[in-house]
Amino acid sequence: LIDVEALAASMGAVVRGVDLAGLDDPTFAEIERALYHHGLLVFPDQKIGHADQDALTRRFGEHGVDAYTDGVPGFPDIQPVVREAGPAPPIFFGANWHTDSPFLPRPPAISMLRSVEVPPFGGDTLYTSTRQAYAGLSDGMKALLDGMRGLYSRSHLLRAIQQWEEDQSLPFDIVPGEHDLRDATAHPLVRTHPVTGHKALYVDENYTLGIEGLRRAEATPILAYLLSQVTKPDYLCRVRWQPNMLAMWDNRLVLHQAFDDFAPHRREMYRSTVLGEVPL
Ligand code: SIN
Repeated sequence: LIDVEALAASMGAVVRGVDLAGLDDPTFAEIERALYHHGLLVFPDQKIGHADQDALTRRFGEHGVDAYTDGVPGFPDIQPVVREAGPAPPIFFGANWHTDSPFLPRPPAISMLRSVEVPPFGGDTLYTSTRQAYAGLSDGMKALLDGMRGLYSRSHLLRAIQQWEEDQSLPFDIVPGEHDLRDATAHPLVRTHPVTGHKALYVDENYTLGIEGLRRAEATPILAYLLSQVTKPDYLCRVRWQPNMLAMWDNRLVLHQAFDDFAPHRREMYRSTVLGEVPL
């Protein structure tokens, strides 16, 4: 029913021949299967609006909590990711490897991003397969990680944003401290996909601050090693946006990062998320 073409060896696929505004149940089921297999699906030439994106998101489940914005007028669950034309701002949303909101008790399972206006260069989104990164570890490392829980927090980032809002300065380096770990949320460092059973590393650059029960000096080299594996070029897939594209990805299988490399051009995107399970 759908035409799926792989985008990279490790993950990601382009899907053609579907209209996301009018999916019948069998086509939706195929899309869902393809998403859990490829981790990321990109749909070019989708002239859809907020209401269609809202309805498509709801096909997968309840809307996720968005930790950063209140949505657009009339659609509280459609989050604007818009940068106006002009010089690059000091803080750019998403410009580090991350999974969406792992500090929540139920982080979003699936995220969607729809492009309306894209810059003539830059503004790509880069993805990596945390499932392939886990598969690439030795059996010994997999055994070590079994049962470990990561500690996820965003309080160090909120502090930097607050400092910027107060006096237009930024910390020289955003180094998380002991107090940031105190309110952190714990989830398995290796997640198990609730539908397919696939295992994937749940480690990112923005939010993963520690490992439950380990001292900082013990956790830091493990997390650094895992991040070095997750970000290996072998596992990457880069999306070059065109207007009217929609990308959907499974946060249990991939990380992503945005780039602040398209000034002075404008970029207009809209994001939505599907509420996930308590990580398994
Ligand atoms: C995000 O991190 O969800 C935004 C990605 C992007 O703007 O490319």
